[in-house]
Amino acid sequence: MNEIRKALFPVAGLGTRFLPATKASAKEMMPVVDKPLIQYAVEEAIAAGCDQLIFVTGRGKRAIADHFDVSYELEVELERKSKNKLLEQVRSILPKHVSTIFLRQPYPLGLGHAVLTARPVIGDEPFAVLLADDLMLAEIPVLSQMLDQYRRYQTVIVGVEEISIEHSNRYGVVAARPWEKGIYQVSAIVEKPRPEEAPSNLGVVGRYILPARIFDFLETTKIGVGGELQLTDAISRLLGERQVLAYLFNGKRYDCGDKLGYLQATIAFAQRHPEVGDAFSEYLAQLSRSLLHRFSLEEST
Ligand code: G1P
Repeated sequence: MNEIRKALFPVAGLGTRFLPATKASAKEMMPVVDKPLIQYAVEEAIAAGCDQLIFVTGRGKRAIADHFDVSYELEVELERKSKNKLLEQVRSILPKHVSTIFLRQPYPLGLGHAVLTARPVIGDEPFAVLLADDLMLAEIPVLSQMLDQYRRYQTVIVGVEEISIEHSNRYGVVAARPWEKGIYQVSAIVEKPRPEEAPSNLGVVGRYILPARIFDFLETTKIGVGGELQLTDAISRLLGERQVLAYLFNGKRYDCGDKLGYLQATIAFAQRHPEVGDAFSEYLAQLSRSLLHRFSLEEST
């Protein structure tokens, strides 16, 4: 059986929705509480057993490579000051058995093009794709859930969630028929359809398990929605010869490519944070009490 060891992180996007914050730094380095978005995605991949991490980066993304590299000066300084807990945290960002490869995507030609860029290092193996913008809160990491399904079915799997139809133009949307609990057989997939054209309310989230065969289709797929080479369009062609499953994962996705989603993620992760979680939850409770109080005063006047 083909185990999935390679995880691909397309991180070349410009992050225009977060300008000016992302003018000189990578959107994937934006922190949710105290970890950058990309680290959450990397931890999810490692938890699922991936030990080869491939980043497709672009200009202005050096901080991502630095983040997963040894920071010699920082470690020496933390050691000197006996800040052992912090030292441990910094050292454990990337476990020793995990290797990284950084590739450059010279032109922002879309997700499909980013994936295709990794062809020479992925080779013939099936692989996982994780979009760091999609931050997942789940008891069992979402990629681990998907790999469980992959072990059972040995086929293409895309993570999906139920979406509001009015937001269909933010997603790849599948036409699918229920098969087993949480599993759907995909018969069509379209990128960012208008609500009236959406084939269902199942939107693709940024988690995919793909075969190397996808590269052949990406090579010959035409530029699609938004003037970009769309991964969705290549998956649509793959449907002609492979079974593609949509997996409705257990957990919640936060769209951190969007300001509101990012703020919601910050609140959810802050409430669960081992250091500040209790104090922050208490603060939220106080805040909602004072808001309620204010509203009831306003209503009575
Ligand atoms: C990409 C994919 C889309 C998918 C989405 C999930 O779009 O093209 O199919 O639903 O990620 O986040 P993007 O958000 O990069 O526009």
